[in-house]
Amino acid sequence: MTAKKRVGVLISGRGSNLQALIDASQAPDYPAELVLMISNVLGAKGLDRAAEADIRTCVIDHKNFGSREDFEAEMETALNEASVELLCNAGFMRILTEGFVTHWLNRHINIHPSLLPAFKGLHTHKRVLDTGAKITGCTVHFVRAAMDDGPIVVQAAVTVSPDDTEDSLAARVLEAEYKLYPHALKLVAAGEVRVEGEHVVGMTPEAGQTVLFSPPLPDTL
Ligand code: GAR
Repeated sequence: MTAKKRVGVLISGRGSNLQALIDASQAPDYPAELVLMISNVLGAKGLDRAAEADIRTCVIDHKNFGSREDFEAEMETALNEASVELLCNAGFMRILTEGFVTHWLNRHINIHPSLLPAFKGLHTHKRVLDTGAKITGCTVHFVRAAMDDGPIVVQAAVTVSPDDTEDSLAARVLEAEYKLYPHALKLVAAGEVRVEGEHVVGMTPEAGQTVLFSPPLPDTL
C-alpha cells in the first residue's frame, strides 16, 4: 500500500465527525492518518477526543489575532510542522481567506449538514423544516472561499419525517455524516477522485458511488 496521507482536522466544537474520522482511520488499510487536530475554540470537546486517540492537538484561538491572515499564518505554521498533506474541516466555524483556501486548493474538504448547494450556512435543519422539504442530507465538498461552497465529493440523502424537530433531524443527518465523511476522506486520500473544471470525477467504479441513501432506496419503486 502507498503511504497514508497525513491529515489535519480543523474543529470548533463537539467533534463527533472528528470521532468518525478517528474511528475509520484506525483500520490498517485506511489511506489516511490523522496527525494534527487544530481547534479555534479553547475547551472544545473535540480536543478530548483527539487526545484520547493520541493525536497531536493544538488550540489556535482566533480571538488572539488581529486579523484573519495572522490567525491563519499560525495555523499554517502548525500544519507545516506536522507535515499535513490534506485538511478536513469537521464543524470548523470560521470563514477562511482566499489566500488560505488557495494554498490548500483541492487538498481541503468540508462537511455540511444539507444537500448543497441548498441550505448553506447556520441553522440548516430549522430552515429545512421551515420550507417543508421532504429530503435533506449532508455533503462533503472541496473548500472554496465562499462558505459551504465548492466541488461536491459525495452526498447522502436523508428523508425528513412530518414529526421531525430540529434535534431529531440533526441527529439523523449526523448518523449519515458519520458514514459519509470517512468515505469521502478515503476517496480523496486514495486519489480516487479529482477535480476537473470545478466538478469532482471518480477515477474508479467505486468512486463513482458518490451518493448514499438513508434509508436505502427500496429495490422496486
Ligand atoms: C456537523 O453537523 C457539521 O456538518 C456541521 O457542524 C456540525 C459539527 O458537529 N458543519 C457545518 O455546519 C459547516 N458549515 P461535530 O462537531 O459534532 O462534528
